[in-house]
Amino acid sequence: MLSDDLFKRASRLFPGGVNSPVRFYEPYPTYFSRASGSRIFDVEGKEYLDFCMGFGVNFAGYSNTTIAEEIMYLLDNTIPEGVPTENEIELGEIIQKAVPSIEKMRFTNSGTEATMHAIRLARAFTGRKLILKMNAGFHGAHDYVLVSAGSGALNFGTPSSPGIPEEVAKTVLVGDFNNEESIRELFKLHGKDIAAVITEPVLGNLGVIGPEKGFLKFLREITEEYGALLIFDEVITGFRFRYGAYQDIIGVKPDLTTMGKIIGGGMPVGLFGGRADIMNRISPEGNVYQSGTFSANPFTVASGLATLNFLKDKDYEYTISLATWVEEKLKSFSDLGVQVNRVYNMFTIFFNEERVWNYETALKSDRKKFMKFFNFSKKHGIYFSPGQFEASFVGMAHTPEEVEMAVFKMVYTLEFDMNEDRNEREQVSINSN
Ligand SMILES: Cc1ncc(COP(=O)(O)O)c(C=O)c1O
Repeated sequence: MLSDDLFKRASRLFPGGVNSPVRFYEPYPTYFSRASGSRIFDVEGKEYLDFCMGFGVNFAGYSNTTIAEEIMYLLDNTIPEGVPTENEIELGEIIQKAVPSIEKMRFTNSGTEATMHAIRLARAFTGRKLILKMNAGFHGAHDYVLVSAGSGALNFGTPSSPGIPEEVAKTVLVGDFNNEESIRELFKLHGKDIAAVITEPVLGNLGVIGPEKGFLKFLREITEEYGALLIFDEVITGFRFRYGAYQDIIGVKPDLTTMGKIIGGGMPVGLFGGRADIMNRISPEGNVYQSGTFSANPFTVASGLATLNFLKDKDYEYTISLATWVEEKLKSFSDLGVQVNRVYNMFTIFFNEERVWNYETALKSDRKKFMKFFNFSKKHGIYFSPGQFEASFVGMAHTPEEVEMAVFKMVYTLEFDMNEDRNEREQVSINSN
């Protein structure tokens, strides 16, 4: 049952052997069979401290017995699929209370669906066609947003995909996150046709890049000035830094918000919601169509409810302080050749000589070196999200001791395992002197 054998079998079934491209890395991905707390176990029984956490889904930790027991309780006597339930109302009420801008909402089965419906709604509400997204901002894999997308698309060097009609791609404008000028320019040219700006408030799919001071407020102001909607895609940031959304930390209120990941507690989920006057345009109250057999299905709702109930009284500062510790410790070594970007409890280690704060600087990162680091780390029992442009996550199940040990191993990897690279780098700079 080795990973290479499994990959051979998988390759006969799935394109590239995987069911989502970000899961693939050379020569073949490691296969996992079990998880507990902050740890995952591969098919050979090797244990890893996980900083990928299902690409940010498993914030509360794996195999949490409190959550599991509540899920079983909530599932007792529920009817699978297709009918309204009280549990979906409870989950909705928790989210509405925690995120005041979400006056009304719809559950979906993925973040992709959530952004797709939010964009259709924004277009219908404003009667405009154009959407403005950020270069390398990722909002899922549907046609409206797979234009200059980040994460897997970036890692594979295909910023957009064949198969998306040119006519669709033409309705998507691409600006630069943290670059007010690029956004202002697009509004000057197309302002009266822009239905909405959609952005992650903290980029997570170009690696972690936080908003520069005032940038999100600027987006709020310019969208208001031109009568466009502002959509915050909080699929990653929702319920991650606090019991609610990032928008309430920075005090910028979007018209619509999308969520996913944590709110389903590990089951497939998405949500779009926001101003009641906009959401009321959704069918059957309004005429904007949206539906889903599995929307708010009992399994997702039970898992989401149990997870949010578990997180309610938890100390988010705990996860933030652990991530801060990773950042500070790595930064205390001046010669590691990396930039550590951290926003609250998520971070990316960029193999980059410069500060990474936008698309241009992020692209200067050395993806090959990152993968080398990823593989060495894996050997040392640490599992990162497999790509330079991904985020790493500290969750409630990570302990200070294991994070401390992991940082020690990261430094060792950067100082010694990667030394070959450092020598090369020093050699280049000696030669170029
Ligand atoms: C910010 C953001 N939006 C949307 C999505 C798409 O979510 P899903 O993979 O659930 O379709 C992702 C996925 O990682 C994401 O990071």
